[in-house]
Amino acid sequence: MTHTTPTHTGPSQNARPKGQLWLALTGLVLITSAASLALAEGDKAKDGEEENAAAAALEANAALPEPSGDQVVAGRKAFIEVAKVLQSPRCMNCHPTGDRPLQTDQSVPHAMNISRESLKSGMACSTCHREENSDEIGIIGGPPGAPHWGLPPEETPMIFQDLSPALLCDQLQDPVKNGNRSLQDLLEHVTKDPLVLWGWNPGGNRTKPPLTHQEFVRNFTLWVQAKGACPE
Ligand code: HEC
Ligand code: HEC
Repeated sequence: MTHTTPTHTGPSQNARPKGQLWLALTGLVLITSAASLALAEGDKAKDGEEENAAAAALEANAALPEPSGDQVVAGRKAFIEVAKVLQSPRCMNCHPTGDRPLQTDQSVPHAMNISRESLKSGMACSTCHREENSDEIGIIGGPPGAPHWGLPPEETPMIFQDLSPALLCDQLQDPVKNGNRSLQDLLEHVTKDPLVLWGWNPGGNRTKPPLTHQEFVRNFTLWVQAKGACPE
């Protein structure tokens, strides 16, 4: 049988599409390797940004006025008060040593196996925790809530649990561990952050931290004025 179809594809005609395919593939490979190079550069840039942000926070700290000896003593003492708040259940329950948030005044691990792992599997905290306490929307005994309810990031877990005041202080004022915050940024955070403010409006019969918010901010300010001097 002879091929008489006018649209037959001979070897020479085949070569072109193949050549084009090959060109396209090479192009694709080039593009993807360029893209992964760009991604790697992006990662480096991100690390670089992190370093810069941490360095900027340290510079801001260094630019604070030098404290007097009395101010350093007062700041160290004030941090002991600050630590009492940070390690009270309302704050510590979201700043645990492990991947599981804690709950109740006894700071027991969160029920239902909630952890950073359950987060990764798609169970967002906001599935249950809304922007206000459940009793404010008429559900008594339900989950507490405040804007951006969640755990600190895995890379910088900002642990408050089980640390001596001295270690807690070291960690808190370290921009690499505190989310690139200067002392002034930390003061701003504890003054205004909705999760911090929630501690004094926790809903249900949850206890409040041992100091008023005002007293807490006053002690925190003394500590910042001492340039984050840590207790022994
Ligand atoms: C619902 C969980 C939650 C509660 C409750 C909570 N925090 Fe946090 N906290 C976070 C998260 C998440 C971050 C990180 C936010 C970010 O980096 O943007 C954070 C960051 C912080 C930081 C700054 C970084 C650092 O190294 O600590 C401070 C200070 C802080 N919280 C203090 C408190 C205090 C004080 C309370 C209690 C009055 C409290 N938090 C209650 C989740 C919580
Ligand atoms: C399936 C629903 C559900 C999910 C998802 C959930 N929670 Fe909860 N959570 C609750 C309930 C209900 C309570 C109230 C229990 C109680 O009264 O102690 C609670 C209480 C808490 C408390 C205790 C507050 C305190 O000081 O007593 C913290 C902290 C907390 N959750 C953090 C989280 C974080 C962080 C996530 C996401 C990683 C999360 N929860 C995900 C239902 C949930």
